[in-house]
Amino acid sequence: MFIAANWKMNLDKKSIQSFVEYLQSYKFSKNVQLCIFPPTIYIDFLSNLIRNIPISIGGQNCHHQSFGAFTGEVSAISLKEFGCDYVILGHSERRIYNKETNESIKKSAQFAIEYNLSPIICVGENLEQRENGKAIDFIEKQITNCIPDEFKEIIIAYEPIWSIGTGKIPHQDEIREMHKYIKEIILLKSKKKVKVLYGGSVNEQNIQEILSVNNVDGVLVGGASLKIKDLLAIYGSAVKHLEKNLIFKD
Ligand code: 13P
Repeated sequence: MFIAANWKMNLDKKSIQSFVEYLQSYKFSKNVQLCIFPPTIYIDFLSNLIRNIPISIGGQNCHHQSFGAFTGEVSAISLKEFGCDYVILGHSERRIYNKETNESIKKSAQFAIEYNLSPIICVGENLEQRENGKAIDFIEKQITNCIPDEFKEIIIAYEPIWSIGTGKIPHQDEIREMHKYIKEIILLKSKKKVKVLYGGSVNEQNIQEILSVNNVDGVLVGGASLKIKDLLAIYGSAVKHLEKNLIFKD
């Protein structure tokens, strides 16, 4: 189970420091991996603070070239050098505001893999596509054009754009259908099994409902990951959910 905390362009040194103080004494489960994605400028700072805490760190993006004249960008090599194990790619906010395309996301994913970062590739339809019954076709196209030709491990995050920051989440059947479909397309095309995270308005109230959907392997949390108590409530629910299921299977 994977819990990804995407801080986007939020928090500062002081708030990151007090955030980490709470994490020092927290008992993490080895079955639920927490990964924090801070703003790039704080990666080194956070990475030093969490040295003795069993959580991971990741970048919110990486460029589709390894070096060069790309002002303001960050490369997969730099992320790795500063302690990242993961990188979020193709978030809808970057697709919209930074004009990222499926093709550039695929190239970034290839670089990320080359430098031993696991890419978390985001896909998701807008409200119009959902309402017109075009969501599945749109996601299939994103997946087909974004995933690298060769990979050992990638993670997909299904984040419907209309659900991000709105408090609205898809019906459980819609999440189930989309996650199943994403796994099937990738298995068919790449012969690989992938984890699929759900993202969009995840909070401590809806986390149980979301995790109880088949084929949901974790969540990508935005707003609710900015407050340590909310994030740990989500994390704790994920641990409980897993324990309940393990007991059930036994
Ligand atoms: P919210 O959890 O704030 O809806 O953001 C989701 C998201 O975009 C995570 O990447």
